[in-house]
Amino acid sequence: MKEIIEFFNQLVPSSSSQADIINTIFYQFLILAGFIFLIVALLLFVGIYRYRAKSEDEPKQSFGNRKLEIFWTIVPMLLLTFFFYLTVQAMIEINTGINDRENPDIIIIAKQWWWEIQYPKLNVTTANELHIPVDKNLVVKIESGDVIHDWSVPALGRKIDAIPGRPNFTHIESSDIGVYYGACNEYCGTQHAWMRIAVFVEGKDDFNKWVKAQREIPVLPNDSLSILGAKLFQEKTCSNCHTISGTPANSNIGPNLTHFASRKMMLSGMMPVSDVNLKKWLSDPQKVKSGAHMPNFRLSKKELNALVEYIGKLK
Ligand code: CUA
Repeated sequence: MKEIIEFFNQLVPSSSSQADIINTIFYQFLILAGFIFLIVALLLFVGIYRYRAKSEDEPKQSFGNRKLEIFWTIVPMLLLTFFFYLTVQAMIEINTGINDRENPDIIIIAKQWWWEIQYPKLNVTTANELHIPVDKNLVVKIESGDVIHDWSVPALGRKIDAIPGRPNFTHIESSDIGVYYGACNEYCGTQHAWMRIAVFVEGKDDFNKWVKAQREIPVLPNDSLSILGAKLFQEKTCSNCHTISGTPANSNIGPNLTHFASRKMMLSGMMPVSDVNLKKWLSDPQKVKSGAHMPNFRLSKKELNALVEYIGKLK
């Protein structure tokens, strides 16, 4: 049994007790379903062989079998009851880590098509890439800014819906340092597929370092192109939707860009952060991620270069 579970653990990653609980139930279902499959397949082959046509005559006809009917009604009912019990037990176990709903450690706001991530206690806001310290139970509040989304990172455990007007709560804890990937699990519009999640589980020191860097106000380089980029950012009304700390830009309609260049990916896991990709995006957002709320500002080549120089250096 232990070997089988280890084999499947390689297929279904887990870095948390929550995921272990869910995976265990999955294995139990899988083993039982496999067993039933074997029985059905065996009976099928027996039937094919034993009752194959032996002559041209019509075979003996039969109708109904009360004993069998009772048997195959009661057995599945008992099995379902058993698994219902296991499921409820797992749900209770998973939910017991949600300690303080009034003061969540993390607030995740799902939007078309990206994730806003706030750490209210640390005064940090970021997007799409969640950083958490290892071995720490964190209460997560999940909200939606528009339609129903679903936060799901299998290695960390349960998935949870983001429902407009109704905050949901869960908790996240990881026992292993590493990067874990997930995605939106509820169809939410054209770019649903590009609503990816990356969770960086870090040691305490690395996490604190990250928090410290995120709280800093980025220093504006004093080359003329960056300065022009910073000016354009305010003039071109980028600031109506985005936040960059230390500037008048202070809105959360689009992702917070204060430390944009410190992230690995942009557009919610769509492509790596790079000047080339940033330029592609800024020159024609709808071509890159159609349906996204980012308008095309029809920037000149010079304006484009200046904005890329500015945003691309926001570490
Ligand atoms: Cu958000 Cu699917």
